[in-house]
Amino acid sequence: MKRKRLALLISGRGSNMAAILAAAGPDYPAEPVLVLSNRADAAGLEVAAARGVATAVVESRAFKGDRTGFEAAMEAELAQHGVEIITLAGFMRVLTPDFVRRWEGRLINIHPSLLPAFPGLDTHARALAAGVRLHGCTVHLVTTGVDEGPILAQAAVPVLPEDTEASLAARVLAEEHKLYPAALYWLAAGRVRVEAGRAIITGVDSARVSLLNPLPRAALLSKQ
Ligand code: GAR
Repeated sequence: MKRKRLALLISGRGSNMAAILAAAGPDYPAEPVLVLSNRADAAGLEVAAARGVATAVVESRAFKGDRTGFEAAMEAELAQHGVEIITLAGFMRVLTPDFVRRWEGRLINIHPSLLPAFPGLDTHARALAAGVRLHGCTVHLVTTGVDEGPILAQAAVPVLPEDTEASLAARVLAEEHKLYPAALYWLAAGRVRVEAGRAIITGVDSARVSLLNPLPRAALLSKQ
C-alpha cells in the first residue's frame, strides 16, 4: 500500500490532529508528514513535534487580509513536504475558492455540529439555544461554500437537560476523535467517490442503531 502524504492544518489545541496522529500507524493509508499552523502559539505544534512530525507556521496575521499571499506561503510548505492530502483540524481560517479547487477531493474538514445544522462558529451554544435533543459532528469534503461539501461521516450525541456549552462540547469532541481518523482512512484508501453531491464510501457498514433522546418508556417502544 502506498500511503498518502498527509498535512494536518491546525490553529490551536490540536486534539483532532493528535487523534489522527495516534491512529496513523504503518497500516494506515495516510502518513502524517506535516502539521501546519496559522498561529505560532498553537498548542498542537508541540504535540506534533513530540511525535516526531514536521511542523511549520505560516502566520495568517502577517498577511493582513492578503489571503492569496497567505495561501501561497502555505502551498510552498505543502509542496516542500510532498503533501497529497489535507485535513483541516480546527483550522480557523476560511480558504479561498482557488485553494479549495486545487485540493478538491483531497481536502477534508471536521465541524462540530450535525451539518447542515449550525454551520459557522459557536455551534454548541447555538445547539443548546435551539433546544435540539441530538447534536454531534460531521466530517466532510471541503468545497467552496463554508461548512458545506459532501458529508463523509457523522456522529450524534444526546443533549442532556443539565448540559452547559462546555459539557456538550466535550461530549461531541470525544466523538470527533473517533470519527475523524475513520473518515480520513476511507478517503486516503481511495474508497470515497462523489455522485450528485453525495459522498459514497465503498466497503463500510452503516450503523443499524438509532439514538432516541429522551428515551421513551420501554412500553412505548415497538418490539420488532
Ligand atoms: C474542534 O471541535 C473542531 O470540530 C472545531 O474546532 C475544534 C478544534 O479542536 N472546528 C471548527 O469549528 C471548524 N469550523 P482541536 O484543535 O482540539 O482539534
